[in-house]
Amino acid sequence: MLKNKKVVYFCQECGYESSKWMGQCPGCKAWNTFVEETVSTKKTSSSGSRTMAQGLKPEPVKLKDIRISEDERRLTKIGELDRVLGGGIVPGSLVLVGGDPGIGKSTLLLQVCRNLALSGNSVLYISGEESLRQIRLRANRIGEFNENLQIFCETNLETIREVIERKKPDMVVIDSIQTMFHEDISSAPGSVSQVRESTNILMQIAKGLGISIFIVGHVTKEGNVAGPRVLEHMVDTVLYFEGDRHASYRILRAVKNRFGSTNEIGVFEMRGTGLEEVKNPSEFMLNGKPNGTSGSIVACSMEGTRPILVEIQALVCQSNFGIPRRTAVGTDFNRVNLLMAVLEKKVGIHLASCDAYVNIAGGMKMTEPAIDLGISLAVVSSCKDIVIPDSVLAFGEVGLSGEVRAVSMAAQRVSEAKKLGFTTVILPKVCQSSMEKTEGMNLVYVEWIQDAIRYIMKG
Ligand code: TYD
Ligand code: MG
Repeated sequence: MLKNKKVVYFCQECGYESSKWMGQCPGCKAWNTFVEETVSTKKTSSSGSRTMAQGLKPEPVKLKDIRISEDERRLTKIGELDRVLGGGIVPGSLVLVGGDPGIGKSTLLLQVCRNLALSGNSVLYISGEESLRQIRLRANRIGEFNENLQIFCETNLETIREVIERKKPDMVVIDSIQTMFHEDISSAPGSVSQVRESTNILMQIAKGLGISIFIVGHVTKEGNVAGPRVLEHMVDTVLYFEGDRHASYRILRAVKNRFGSTNEIGVFEMRGTGLEEVKNPSEFMLNGKPNGTSGSIVACSMEGTRPILVEIQALVCQSNFGIPRRTAVGTDFNRVNLLMAVLEKKVGIHLASCDAYVNIAGGMKMTEPAIDLGISLAVVSSCKDIVIPDSVLAFGEVGLSGEVRAVSMAAQRVSEAKKLGFTTVILPKVCQSSMEKTEGMNLVYVEWIQDAIRYIMKG
């Protein structure tokens, strides 16, 4: 064993460090995630104080003397992203963009680079994954670029640091952190110690020179690539890109944000010319909803501070086998089973011998209990072959006794429904006190699931 080197084991999921190998990580409880890495005990360039590194005398400053101005933020001109970031990019911030491979991280960041370059900022896009030609081909699909954007293919962080310090761009993109390495660390790129050290260096560059840095991080289930979990503690903002690869829309969610709220989501659609913002997701989700058919109702789920309307479809038919088939797409399967049991026992609808398929149209995944009422009504509607009018929307959590329970932000949901032309909303009775009178809306307050069913049966 070399001097100054020691072997440690890191959990590749959460970065837990241990001197011996373990089967289960005590930190995140994941199994078989420990990987051996050799780390240097020598002081690396990244350790040491930030002020000293900049050649300043260590001296605390008065809080009230620190100046900030809101207009310092740079707008990406992509409204959905600006909102998720809390109103634009803060200079000197370190932003991690995570997500499955192929979801569109590189595409989004190239679009951000393009917009910032067009508004006069100098931007450096550093790729460790793609060749210059590949980036050019992608850029051709996105649109016109100007001379403010420079591309650099490199994976060695010392070279990157030198280039950034020389060029002093306003913004840098690192695509991706898993391909970057530092010579002082002997483990492979993508391992926890490499990722941690690389991020540390990038953090110093960002804070020292006031450059905003976007880091791309892949999320993979395999143990050999460090999940960006390790990074989450180190960066200022963590954005996650999610969505079904087969559906065209993508959701950008802030998981951590030192400069804004983490409640916001941004919705995008993948087109032939890059990612396009979806300004009104509800309209997008309800696109193509059939009229006048049974087994369909619109429900409302909150995504952060944003209400999203989705169509819930159910198909209930007589089972041909002894054990009925149940399927749930886009929502929790067990929740669907539970709601069907409530309908069977508390309402007396015979579903035990029926197959049931529940689908959230549009490919969106929704797990908020507020869609319970929608699922139940869609099942009843299909089973009894009752058409629920297109102007009706329902939300509310359904409990095991068949009671309809309160949900948060009822007023916002109702106003979103109104915006999209719904005239009747079925909602929990408990929400009545928090609701104001809404012009032109018929609000049907229900206490029990039976009340809601009675309402739709009446037509
Ligand atoms: P990419 O940004 O390379 O994903 P990531 O960096 O997260 O791995 O996105 C790749 C996918 O996006 C790929 O399947 C092709 C598709 N795509 C489009 O549909 N339209 C476009 O204009 C571009 C650039 C990509
Ligand atoms: Mg990529």
